[in-house]
Amino acid sequence: MNHTLQIRVVSKDEELQDALTVRRLVFIEEQEVPEDLEIDEHDTLSSPTIHFVAYQGDTPVGASRLRTYQPGVGKIERVAVLGSTRGTGLGRAIMEFMEETARANGYAKVKLNAQCHAQGFYEKLGYVPYGDIFDDAGIPHIAMEKVFSE
Ligand code: COA
Repeated sequence: MNHTLQIRVVSKDEELQDALTVRRLVFIEEQEVPEDLEIDEHDTLSSPTIHFVAYQGDTPVGASRLRTYQPGVGKIERVAVLGSTRGTGLGRAIMEFMEETARANGYAKVKLNAQCHAQGFYEKLGYVPYGDIFDDAGIPHIAMEKVFSE
């Protein structure tokens, strides 16, 4: 069996469906986020949003997306790694891959709304929290950002 890990920018519908499969398992089934909040108008191939999917061999195991928040600022959303693959460095690899893509797209900064339990994960990657904790889909969140140096 091929266990090679690969992270890709989604370019075809099959890859988008694989990314959505991961997000359904992680956010809708595991975290009980309502489907109508989890899947939205950005989740189409025709949207300007950049989707990412990670494969272990042929199996989708991670996903995320990146979109424009305001000119020069990207917003990272829906970072998800399947439970069976967590703690192996995939989350970090997805974040680094997204940051490369964000820089290549001309963003000087990226922001995200972190679930509070994941704040430490993002801090290790250089994200800084700001503002107050707020509720989204019944889950406490904190806004975080990272300014790119050069
Ligand atoms: N809190 C603090 N540190 C964490 C952490 C957490 N919840 N999760 C991982 N880390 C640390 C790891 O220990 C590792 O540290 P190291 O570099 O010192 O060894 C580093 O962050 C990278 O961890 P990694 O293995 O790449 O993370 P992962 O693949 O397990 O992915 C998530 C992390 C958050 C993406 C994953 O747990 C997940 O998908 N959770 C469910 C969905 C979710 O809540 N997503 C976040 C939405 S804001």
